[in-house]
Amino acid sequence: MPELQATAREPVKVPLVTDIKTVLQTLRAARRNVLEIIPDLCTKQPMVSGKTAMVRWHMVMDPGALRRVLKDNLDNYPKSDITKNLLRPAIGDSLFIAEGAHWRWQRRAAAPVFSHRNIAALAPIMSASAEAVCERLAGQAKADMFEEMVAATFEVISNVTFSGAGEMAGDEVHKAIDRFIDQSARISLMDVVGIPTWVPRPSRLFGGNPVADMKRVADAAIEKRRKMGAKPVPDLLDLLIEGMDPETKRQMNSAELRDNLLTFIVAGHETTALTLAWALYLCAFDQDVQAKLHEEVRDVLGGRVAGPEDIGKLPYTEQVIKETLRLYPPASFIARTAQAPDELCGRKIRKKDSVMLPIYALQRNELLWPEPDSFKPERFAKGAKYDRFAWLPFGDGPRVCIGAHFAMVEAQIILASLISRYRFEPIEGKDPVPEMVLTLRPKGGVWLNIIPRH
Ligand code: HEM
Repeated sequence: MPELQATAREPVKVPLVTDIKTVLQTLRAARRNVLEIIPDLCTKQPMVSGKTAMVRWHMVMDPGALRRVLKDNLDNYPKSDITKNLLRPAIGDSLFIAEGAHWRWQRRAAAPVFSHRNIAALAPIMSASAEAVCERLAGQAKADMFEEMVAATFEVISNVTFSGAGEMAGDEVHKAIDRFIDQSARISLMDVVGIPTWVPRPSRLFGGNPVADMKRVADAAIEKRRKMGAKPVPDLLDLLIEGMDPETKRQMNSAELRDNLLTFIVAGHETTALTLAWALYLCAFDQDVQAKLHEEVRDVLGGRVAGPEDIGKLPYTEQVIKETLRLYPPASFIARTAQAPDELCGRKIRKKDSVMLPIYALQRNELLWPEPDSFKPERFAKGAKYDRFAWLPFGDGPRVCIGAHFAMVEAQIILASLISRYRFEPIEGKDPVPEMVLTLRPKGGVWLNIIPRH
């Protein structure tokens, strides 16, 4: 597929279909690559609508309409049932899934956990993981940087959730999460396009084993922590145990704590690893950007790994990460279901219509981004203008990603540390292929040559 190849000017991308397919074709495409069913039109128009198997759907790329869905008329657009049914077996009615009052109190109780101050206090854990990955890479001429980043971010998320619990066999839990995402993601699109409910979904077929294992480990860790009391530097679990909704004074019970911590693991670990892996691919793809990035980190870090004190001093690193999130948004497709009639972009929305936010296509839309497929970190330079609702890697409105700052700090610490120690080069014939499962993953990994800097 020649379109998948990077060109001299543009990094790899997914070819999008140019016509809307029939259900069966769509399904076949969905098994292959979900992004391919996002019509190419979505990168050219503000809104594309259609009807598949009796379900009316709209793909929305207009910033004003997105603002209405995510913010101004939020209550009319809860997450689609499929998103919820898909994730509920693993993460219960946690923050990610809950709606209405049950969501609101959890969000209020969890918000302070993610304050800038708390994240700065947790940042040394991110630096330790950056140091560890730098050491692992020493002496390796090449590596799959996606795998390396998965290991690094997993270390971070497990050390800020169940650290010291002892029971958490990292590798095992990671495999469980991976199996869960892999088995469940492929079907999400079946539901989005309205395949009848009698078609067996893999999620109904697989028993809860990986999930049950994850839950057991988490429950034990929570019990132990309750007995032990908070750690000297409180981690996410300590902060969440302490967390209280200021309005209802409600605090999370053990099951709610567990569901939310597993949510943080599922929502926060692979997404951040993907951001870093794609960022490294882009740096290897564009050596000028990498050289500029190195200049910044050399001046600020002088060879050491980055820490919380460096956040705010690495503006170009931040720009590179934001541009990476534009080109390869880990959550590249969000779905909502309309609860009542509405109007978006002058088009009628009916109750039960499926409203999709194809973030990947939005962020490459020609009406919103000049040279949309090019890698240009300057788009996010201080003072540069872009529509806030044209860049939605973390969503927006009240349900915006609660871990966005956490992820940005982690990505900056790990990327800056790696670039300060190493230079990365592409390996001929080994370009990653963007593939959307539940997230936008690089098929075949991100293999890069690694050259130490002295
Ligand atoms: C680069 C990394 C990340 C990306 C791209 C990302 C993306 C997103 C997006 C797009 C949403 C909104 C989904 C929707 O509206 O349907 C979301 C929500 C959420 N994310 Fe993240 N996320 C990242 C990292 C994290 C981290 C590190 C955590 C926790 C440690 C986290 C926890 C959550 C939670 C709990 C929600 C649900 C919030 C709510 O509904 O109130 N995410 N994320």
